[in-house]
Amino acid sequence: MKVIIVNGPNLNLLGVREPGIYGSESMEAYLTKLRRRYPDVEINHYQSNVEGELINKLQEAGFSYDGIILNAGAYTHTSIALLDCIRSLRTPVIEVHISNVDGREEYRRHSMIAPGCKGTIQGFGLDSYRLAVEALLGDGERGAG
Ligand code: DQA
Repeated sequence: MKVIIVNGPNLNLLGVREPGIYGSESMEAYLTKLRRRYPDVEINHYQSNVEGELINKLQEAGFSYDGIILNAGAYTHTSIALLDCIRSLRTPVIEVHISNVDGREEYRRHSMIAPGCKGTIQGFGLDSYRLAVEALLGDGERGAG
C-alpha cells in the first residue's frame, strides 16, 4: 500500500502557525509517528505553497499510488483547477482538514474540491491524516474502488 499526503499552502508552518487551531506539532514529527504506526504502508509526503505545483504532484501520483490524502489548505475553498485535477486521476483522493472548517468562518464552509474526492475527514487535529490512512486501508480490505 502506497499513499501520499499532499499538503497545500502554509502547512509547512505546522507547529508554528496558529497553534490554537492547528496544534504545536510539526508535520515531520507527526509523520515519524504515523510511519511507525503503519510499517506496512509506504507514506510519502509533499508540501507546496504553489497551486500549480500541487497539481503537478497530484498528476504524478494519481495513476500509480493507492491513495492520496490531500489537505489543500485555503485552495480547498477556491480552486476549480484542483477539482478538475482530482477528477482526472485514477487514485482515490481523501480530503483532509486539521480543523473543523464547518465550525469556523463562513468562507471555509464551502469546499471546491469535495465533489471530486472520495470523502472528507476534518476536525480531528493531525489525527485527521491517520483517519484518512485508516479509510484507505479499509477501502482495500473491502475491495471497493
Ligand atoms: C485547513 C483549513 C483551511 O480552511 C485553511 O485555509 C488551512 C488549513 C485545515 O487543515 O484545517 O490552511 O485546510
